[in-house]
Amino acid sequence: MMMAGILILLWSTSRSALTSVHGFASPILTQQFSRLRGNENANSLVRTFSAIDNSTTTIDSTSVSDDALIKAQRAERKRKKLLTKAAAAKRRKFIGLAKAVDRGQFKTTYQPGGSSGVSFVAKSGLPQDYSSRPFTVLGIESSCDDTGAAVVRSDGVILGESLASQAHIHEEWGGIVPGLAKAAHEENIDRVIEEALERAQTTLEEIDAIGVTVGPGLELCLRVGSEKACQLATDFKKPFVGIHHLEAHILMARLENQEALEFPFLALLVSGGHCQLLKCLGVGRYAVIGGTLDDSLGECYDKTARLLGLPIGGGGGPALEALAKNGNATAIPLTIPLQKRQDCDFSYAGLKTNIRRAAEKLVLERGVESALELSEEDKADLAASFQNTAIKHLEQRLVRAMKMMEKEDINTLTVVGGVAANQEIRRRLQNLCDDRDWSMVVPPPRLCTDQGAMASWAAIERLRMGSSDDPSNQDIYARYPFSFYDNSPETNNE
Ligand code: KG4
Ligand code: ZN
Repeated sequence: MMMAGILILLWSTSRSALTSVHGFASPILTQQFSRLRGNENANSLVRTFSAIDNSTTTIDSTSVSDDALIKAQRAERKRKKLLTKAAAAKRRKFIGLAKAVDRGQFKTTYQPGGSSGVSFVAKSGLPQDYSSRPFTVLGIESSCDDTGAAVVRSDGVILGESLASQAHIHEEWGGIVPGLAKAAHEENIDRVIEEALERAQTTLEEIDAIGVTVGPGLELCLRVGSEKACQLATDFKKPFVGIHHLEAHILMARLENQEALEFPFLALLVSGGHCQLLKCLGVGRYAVIGGTLDDSLGECYDKTARLLGLPIGGGGGPALEALAKNGNATAIPLTIPLQKRQDCDFSYAGLKTNIRRAAEKLVLERGVESALELSEEDKADLAASFQNTAIKHLEQRLVRAMKMMEKEDINTLTVVGGVAANQEIRRRLQNLCDDRDWSMVVPPPRLCTDQGAMASWAAIERLRMGSSDDPSNQDIYARYPFSFYDNSPETNNE
C-alpha cells in the first residue's frame, strides 16, 4: 500500500510526462526533490529513475522518505537484474537463428535416430556379422556436379573409387546448369559404379551394403544417383542407407582416424552450398550453432574467381587460392562482415559486393575496360585481400563458437567441405587451434570435395549404429536440414 503511494505506475499519464522522468525534465525533478529532501538524496533519486530503461515509473513527490529511497533503489536493482536476464535469453535465442537452421519450419528434417536422436532402426537390415568383421559398402554421390562412386571397407580403407568430373561443361556455361548436370550424371553413372567395383576387385553380389546421397542438393541430380542405388539395393537385396550430404562431409574427417575425432566435437562446414558451425553430438545428431545468412564461402570464392577471369570449372576456389599466393593480402581494404552481430552466423554476400567494387575502383584507376584486363599483380592483390578478409570472418565466428564449446569441455575441431581443401584456411585455423590448445582434424584435401567415398563412409557409420533405410520408399530432398538435437543451455535455442 505504502509502495503504491510512493511509486505510481502512470500508464494513463501523457507520454511527455513519462519521458520527463528520463529526459529533459530531470533537472526539474532534481529541483523539486532538493526542496523536499536536500540535494544528495534528490540527485540519487533522479539518477535512480533515469537509469531505469523505458520506465513508466513516476513519483508522488509529497511523500518521499528514506524508506522510499531504499525501496526505489531495490526496485532498480531488481529491474536491472531482470533486464540482464532478458538480454542473456535474447542472445541465446539469437544463436542458431541462421537461415539454414531448422526451427520447425521445414517439412522434412534429417532424423535417422528419431526424436530422441538415438533410436535407430534397420529398415532394410544390416550386413551380416557387421560388428565382428570388416564389411564393404558401395557409395554413390550425385548431389551436384560430379558423379562419384566408391567401395569402402568398414575399417576406413578405400578399396576402389571413380569420379566423373563435369568441370568442362560448367566451364563452358560459366556455372552449373542443372539440366546439363543431370544429363551428364545419367551418362556416367553406370560406368563410374563399374569402375569403382572393378578397382576394388569386387562385385555387386559381394558388397555388403549400398549408400547414396539423398539430400541436400540439386533435385534433378540427386534423383539420378538415388534411383540407381535404390534399384541396385532392391535387385541385390542389400541393406540400403540414404545419405545426408553434409553429414557425409563431416564424417569424412573420421575415415582415417576415428579415435582422433570422437563425438562430441565442433565442425566448421564450408562448401559450395553451405557455411555452418555445428556441435556434433553423434551420428545423425547435430546442433547448428551458426549458419550463413546469405551466401556460402564456396559461392563467394567462385564468384570472385569469375570476376577475375579465373577457371571456374569444378569451382573457382583452387584457382583463386593459387593466385592469392602471389598477392599482398593487405593491399585492398575490405570490410570483415557482421562486426556488430555477436553470434556464430556468417554472411558473405557483402564481401562479394565489396570485392567487386574494389575491382571496379582499380579498373578506373588503371584506365582499363574491365577487371579481366587488370595486371596479374592487381588481380593477385585482389585475390589475396579477398581471401584474407574471408578467413578473418571465419576466424572471428569460430573463436566465438570455440569459447561456447570450451564451457562444455569440447576442444576438438574439424573443418570439412570443399573449401576445407584450401591450404591457407587450414594453416590459419590450425594456428588458431594451437593458440587455444585445441586439436584439429581435417580430411585430406582430395576427400574434402565431393566424391563417392563420402557416401560409402557415411553409410558405414550409420550401419554401425544399427540404422538403414527402405530402398522401396526413399525420397530425395533438395533441402534437408538437420533436426535439432542439443542438451546444453548455451546452444539451446528452443
Ligand atoms: O563440397 P563441395 O565439393 O561441393 C558442395 O557440397 O558444395 O564444395 C565445392 C566448393 C566450390 O565452391 C569450390 O570452389 C570450393 O569448394 N573449393 C575451394 C577449394 N577447393 C574447392 N575453395 C577454396 N579453396 C580451395 N582450394
Ligand atoms: Zn559437398
